[in-house]
Amino acid sequence: MVALTNDSVVYTLNNGVKIPAIGLGTWQASAPGHASNATKVALQNGYRHIDTAAIYKNEEEVGQGLKDSGLKREEVFITTKLWNGDHKNAAKALDESLKKLGVDYVDLYLIHWPVSTDPATGKDYEDWDYVDTWKQLQKLYKETKKVRAIGVSNFTKSKIERLLADPEVDVVPAVNQVEAHPLLTQPELYDYLKEKNIVIEAYSPLGSTDAPLFKNETIAAIAKKNGVEPGHVLISWAVQRNTVVLPKSVTNSRIISNLKTFTLPEEDFEALNKLSEKDGIHRWADPSWNDFST
Ligand SMILES: NC(=O)c1ccc[n+]([C@@H]2O[C@H](COP(=O)([O-])OP(=O)(O)OC[C@H]3O[C@@H](n4cnc5c(N)ncnc54)[C@H](OP(=O)(O)O)[C@@H]3O)[C@@H](O)[C@H]2O)c1
Repeated sequence: MVALTNDSVVYTLNNGVKIPAIGLGTWQASAPGHASNATKVALQNGYRHIDTAAIYKNEEEVGQGLKDSGLKREEVFITTKLWNGDHKNAAKALDESLKKLGVDYVDLYLIHWPVSTDPATGKDYEDWDYVDTWKQLQKLYKETKKVRAIGVSNFTKSKIERLLADPEVDVVPAVNQVEAHPLLTQPELYDYLKEKNIVIEAYSPLGSTDAPLFKNETIAAIAKKNGVEPGHVLISWAVQRNTVVLPKSVTNSRIISNLKTFTLPEEDFEALNKLSEKDGIHRWADPSWNDFST
């Protein structure tokens, strides 16, 4: 049986801001009281990083959980995200998120998806895209104290290349938050982001709703062999490959458990790195209105 301890790994973003490796995910923490309790329990048990988004409709509860935790604002790293329908109004959307969270700034503000949708029609704008949105985030980053770092989410390598090629873009995203776990290691994107000094944030690390990766035979066997839960294997693996990882839970015992990591033996780490060669690549978050092929 290996020793499990509360994870204390912290990375430095490309602008010097520090980010704790494990953050509490809050997507689908939407039933009344869930996100506030999860945030409070996480923070009182060692987490210092919470991941939310305007579209999760729980920013007020996350803010409440922060207050209830008794921690000071500056002790906690908070991420929120700009929704697709607000791309032309980033400044206003950020102010609304800050108001709901009850804070003066967020540590990280992300473009949630590279999709700019007209809320009036539900169709993509013809005169606007994510590069224009990024320029708005750059302005917020440079001209206000409301965001300590800015980044993107669900961006492919080619979309980041296109963003960085724009002559008016001079802030490199601090992170790219993407789905990542042993069945979706995204090696090409991973290497590219490392080379550009863009931190990878791994979402759906347990396979998303109901943690389907717990049932994977190899993951279960590695957990058994090391005397830990499959969650410890998945979260420790993500930290061991130098990514931020965002496990979500609204269950107190799981929240506490998910912060505990250990060092995977090399053979187990490698088996997970290669798992998709055996079991296939699997992407859980693939909405029809987004295009991962470009
Ligand atoms: N940027 C994006 O587009 C994007 C997309 C998806 C997710 N995310 C972020 O990433 C976070 C995590 O992803 P996710 O919510 O899709 O899924 P996830 O963290 O992979 O899995 C969450 C599921 O696993 C269960 N679970 C958690 N810990 C467990 C444990 N120790 N044992 C057994 N089951 C456990 C949870 O149940 P309970 O909650 O009932 O305990 C929930 O059903 C999100 O919450 C969000 O913050 C971002």
